[in-house]
Amino acid sequence: MDYLKKLSRFIVPYKKYGILNIICNVFYALFSTLAMVSLMPMINVLFGESEKVYKKPVYEGFKKLKPYAEDSLNYFITTTTDNDGPQQALLYMIVLIISLFLLKNIFNYLALYFITFLRNGVLKDVRNDVYNKVLNLPISYYTEKKKGDIIARISGDVNEVKNSLLAVLELIVKEPLTIAFAIIAMFSISVKLTIFVFLFIPVSGFIISRIGKSLKRKSDKVQKEQGVFLSTLEETLGGLKVIKGFNAEERFNKKFQDSTTKFYNFSNTLLNRQNLASPTSEFLGIVTIAALLWYGGSMVLIEKTLSGGAFITYMALAYQILTPAKAISKASYKVKAGNAAADRILEVIESKSPLEDSTNAKSKLDFNTSIALENVSFKYEEDLVLKDFSITVEKGKTLALVGQSGSGKSTIANLVTRFYDVTSGKITIDGENIKDLTKHSLRNLMGLVIQDSILFNDTVKNNILLGKQDATDAEVEEALKIANAWEFVKDLPQGMHTNIGDSGNKLSGGQKQRLSIARAVLKNPPIMILDEATSALDTESERAVQVALENMMKNRTSIVIAHRLSTIQNADTIVVMQKGEIVEQGKHNELLNNKGVYSTLVKMQSIQ
Ligand SMILES: Nc1ncnc2c1ncn2[C@@H]1O[C@H](COP(=O)(O)OP(=O)(O)O)[C@@H](O)[C@H]1O
Ligand SMILES: [Mg+2]
Repeated sequence: MDYLKKLSRFIVPYKKYGILNIICNVFYALFSTLAMVSLMPMINVLFGESEKVYKKPVYEGFKKLKPYAEDSLNYFITTTTDNDGPQQALLYMIVLIISLFLLKNIFNYLALYFITFLRNGVLKDVRNDVYNKVLNLPISYYTEKKKGDIIARISGDVNEVKNSLLAVLELIVKEPLTIAFAIIAMFSISVKLTIFVFLFIPVSGFIISRIGKSLKRKSDKVQKEQGVFLSTLEETLGGLKVIKGFNAEERFNKKFQDSTTKFYNFSNTLLNRQNLASPTSEFLGIVTIAALLWYGGSMVLIEKTLSGGAFITYMALAYQILTPAKAISKASYKVKAGNAAADRILEVIESKSPLEDSTNAKSKLDFNTSIALENVSFKYEEDLVLKDFSITVEKGKTLALVGQSGSGKSTIANLVTRFYDVTSGKITIDGENIKDLTKHSLRNLMGLVIQDSILFNDTVKNNILLGKQDATDAEVEEALKIANAWEFVKDLPQGMHTNIGDSGNKLSGGQKQRLSIARAVLKNPPIMILDEATSALDTESERAVQVALENMMKNRTSIVIAHRLSTIQNADTIVVMQKGEIVEQGKHNELLNNKGVYSTLVKMQSIQ
């Protein structure tokens, strides 16, 4: 099956459980048929219809197994009835029935028991894979895709796949086997009647398959809408302050409700379509049974070619076929839904990252001479954001980038850290193109502090440890001191082991930013990239952060993007950018004397 092939690499590690499930299902199917067949001698004993056999039958090979088994049973019933009375014989038959039903159910349970490990194992592995992919896909992937969509896939779709995995095994093993065994039993009771039943099956099959059509498209729509409202929820949680502050609750509420209304409509159609399956097949089943009663009844009453017990057993077997047939139609819906879900998951897992390391990418362990942008042009979408941009930063020097908002400063930080790839030109480090290096080793050489301090709901220490996993408390403290953060961290209730809340919201902006700096300090990379690290702060905390930054930049190569020009006066080179191009460059005093763009910017800021 196509579907299983798609998921094969997730299933293979658990195939042992799949095989055990199949084996148990074979026994389940066998015993559920035998359990039904065992009704026949019971009824025959009850109504005294058993054939009398007084001579112990002899086994004459496998081919004559059926008459041998029948004769043996009848012999047993005859002798028991003669010796201990019919009630004793009935008791034995009841014990036989109970044992067969017990075995059937034990194997049913065992089959489910084993498959559980496979289903949950696949669930776990698929989730891990999607998450891993989420971590590895480039930032640009998420500007295209909504985050809620990914969340929907990792929760809803994965579950859908899990459910369908049970269904698919029912579909290809359990139910077909149950049907096959039942059909064998039916043939052995009456060939004529069975052929008659077979006329009905293709008709029902056709009707049921009609219902299944278009289910995939419908389930896609439902899942997509779920992504939309999860995205809204995600954005709402992240932006509650702004939503409340701007009294925008109504607007967001409406957006959310629009989506849930669509979801309501789509899933109504989907569910109703799904729900149609079971009643339809049940009704078709009973029509078949009715026809059977009519036809078979005449065989019992008029032709007298069938005993009452055999006919009742036959009916039970026919019903035995209907249940799996129903299960098959239900399972096939589940598999279709699972198939659609698997496609959505695999789309994420298999999406190729444009920033994948090349196979012979080198690991670069140290930084020796310089970083250079050589004729770099870049566009996010249509318009060039950087145009033929060239600059070199020697080891140990500080490059400052200034310019109006939108002039492409952050873009340079994005390119140097390889969150994006240049459109043309190249970026080199010690003369090596960064595309030839592993991203891991490249980013190991760099520390990044950006405008919004990104902190996680965890302790101060754990947030800082991102910079160096195995750092000791003493090292963390040292980093906090350099970042000018120790003075407030030491006063927290549990010091560096204090939880700082969601996105660090228990701290002030300046405090958060100093923690981000401490994180970069602990990492201790040779190259530092600061993107408006202080611009979100008030003057008071800016001063504290500025000191932290200067401590950190000592003896390091830095690219500093600054909004406030006061912070970059000591830079070795200041580059003034406009619309992705360099308009001026030099040292602070040179640029002031030039009386160009830079001096105007400085003037404007000192007036403020
Ligand atoms: N992810 C993005 N997708 C599309 N355009 C972007 C993206 N990020 C930035 N831009 C555009 O690139 C230009 C430069 O942005 P940026 O480098 O962030 O400017 P700066 O940091 O100098 O304020 C802007 O015009 C902005 O609209
Ligand atoms: Mg910027």
